[in-house]
Amino acid sequence: MKGLILSGGKGVRLRPITFTNAKQLVPVANKPVLFYGLEAIAEAGIEEVGIVVGETKEEIKEAVGDGSRWGLKVTYIDQPEPLGLAHAVKVSEWYLKDEPFVMYLGDNLIKGGIADLVEEFRSKRPNAQILLAHVEDPGRFGVAELHDDRVVKLTEKPKEPKSDLALVGVYMFDHQIFEAVKSIKPSRRKELEITDAIQYMIDKGLNVQPYVIQGWWKDTGKLEDMLEANRIVLDNLKRRIEGTIDKASRLEGKVVVEKGAVIRKSVIRGPVIIGYNTLIENSFIGPFTSIHDEVEIKNSEIEYSIILKNSSIINIKNRISGSLIGKNVRIYQAPSKPKAYRFMLGDNSEAGIREA
Ligand code: DAU
Repeated sequence: MKGLILSGGKGVRLRPITFTNAKQLVPVANKPVLFYGLEAIAEAGIEEVGIVVGETKEEIKEAVGDGSRWGLKVTYIDQPEPLGLAHAVKVSEWYLKDEPFVMYLGDNLIKGGIADLVEEFRSKRPNAQILLAHVEDPGRFGVAELHDDRVVKLTEKPKEPKSDLALVGVYMFDHQIFEAVKSIKPSRRKELEITDAIQYMIDKGLNVQPYVIQGWWKDTGKLEDMLEANRIVLDNLKRRIEGTIDKASRLEGKVVVEKGAVIRKSVIRGPVIIGYNTLIENSFIGPFTSIHDEVEIKNSEIEYSIILKNSSIINIKNRISGSLIGKNVRIYQAPSKPKAYRFMLGDNSEAGIREA
């Protein structure tokens, strides 16, 4: 069995972070989302993985390399334009050939990996196996209708969902999928939908096996989901302190402090991860916060946030919460006169300000 990870597309929903970054490389607990998928595939005993790449190919290649870190043999597959998930399968046929494969969306995170699901597929040999999860907002996903544990209908992002069962971004297929992806037409959003390809298989009477997962699952395409995924992953951390902490600082609960990090006169209330060579001084870092490498935080308070590499937050009086701050960002106290806010935010940025 082979693996196929989809890491093409454009990250419009996480703009402006993804103007400069593939959305699959935004870190959750300081590790790119994509790496969780690669780990899950390796754990399921799969050794050969194709990664579908588009505009952000170079960044993805630089981060993943040849896959040997995970014991994988990675092949990169070019998708000239992000024309849909089924299109990504179409352009991968030369690589997948006749072998069954697991397709994993590069921005999805699933608790407990996929080893059991792959095992189930291997033993039962349906033509397709789809994963479903109960969600509160099914209209944002592909939605499944079941009858006596059989899938009867799949609809991509329906306005009026007929169930609360969302398609999770992990699918398993045999070679029948290729006829399906070649037969369907583009959807309203002008994409070849994998949802429609699977519906085509159902209509042909092929065996599409549903599997409702009970653990958590996140599609990290939006800020709230990203923060929530970060919260859940951090909650499973084991305490590990390799940086330098002075006597005036206090570390509470699950905290990871990487090598070269320095913490002075601060309170770190876990779950929190602090990256390599980061400096925290006279500050409070609250629960569910990931601070990446080479960041500087002084005289400030941050909770429930993700701060990316080489940024600095200095002398901010009000607590920063629920935020995703990109790479090389500077946030600081402006000079006292004139009394004004001072911003330099990229296109499509978002700043929420609460007057004291
Ligand atoms: O996350 C689960 C959902 O994923 C499912 O419930 C939906 O049925 C399915 O269509 C998909 O919906 P999204 O709209 O969230 O897919 P998105 O465009 O975010 O793409 C998912 C991943 O695939 C992402 O890592 C980018 C990559 N991709 C996307 C497209 C459209 C490609 O590699 N090529 C593409 O052409």
